[in-house]
Amino acid sequence: MQIVPVGPAFGAELRGVTLADVANDDAAYAEVRAAFEEHSLLVFRGQEVTDDRQLAFSRRFGPPEVTKVGSLGTGTHFITLTTIGPDGKVVPPDHRYAMRNKANQLWHTDSSFKSVPALTSILSARIIPENGGETEFVSTRLAFERLDPALQRKLENSFAWHDYNHSRSKIAPGLASPEERAALPPQCWRMVWRNPVNGRGALYLASHAYAVDGMDAVAGLALIEDLTAAATAPGTSYVHKWESGDVVMWDNRATMHRGRPWPADEPRLMIRTTVSATDADGVTAMRPSRQAAE
Ligand SMILES: [Fe+2]
Repeated sequence: MQIVPVGPAFGAELRGVTLADVANDDAAYAEVRAAFEEHSLLVFRGQEVTDDRQLAFSRRFGPPEVTKVGSLGTGTHFITLTTIGPDGKVVPPDHRYAMRNKANQLWHTDSSFKSVPALTSILSARIIPENGGETEFVSTRLAFERLDPALQRKLENSFAWHDYNHSRSKIAPGLASPEERAALPPQCWRMVWRNPVNGRGALYLASHAYAVDGMDAVAGLALIEDLTAAATAPGTSYVHKWESGDVVMWDNRATMHRGRPWPADEPRLMIRTTVSATDADGVTAMRPSRQAAE
């Protein structure tokens, strides 16, 4: 296996390894897992992807999430991200599918609004537009390490509230349905996720974050916005231009990402699997010792 760096001080393409190798071979998994802990973002090119292969690969890293209510693929281990409607045609720009793609274009980490956050997301390209539709990534580990030590210490002892409805309401009021809102109450997480393997901290931020526990609402949101701006400053991102056969996985503990727009009349179909974080991934230390009052 060859590790080829792709991004500004994070991210790597792995060559000479397939999804099936990782699914079937302990040594291949161990090598890929070590690269994941170190590089936060892994690119696999030229893969022969099927749903079954993607899921078998995903299961190596931990328990796969069951897709939430309101997403395409609900009740399965797959999330379908698409602008192709049930009739096989590309949906209009005001369709719910298209609006959800807009919400994905805000900087976020996946599943911070869930009661169990995500270790990693695995995304495969199935139908890709000619132009645009890239996925852009930043390292929130490097962003954390750029902050001054006093702020690092403060954040390590701070907790932020995350709510799916918050990020969706930035796109359109009511985009999160009443069922989704009921199923996804706000969650509170430490603002720094320390990787148990290498000890490095990362900002745990997302478009879903709306308040800092114990801080005035306006000041808390301003802090979240300032940290997001610093984490996504020009020159810090890796932009993945999708090609057929690409699979990209990222560490939701140590990165943020956003989708990039593409022409509204071009179809795009991506399949995501998501793996829940476990105690071994450091999730226990992320929970507040007391549930703060909202
Ligand atoms: Fe995402």
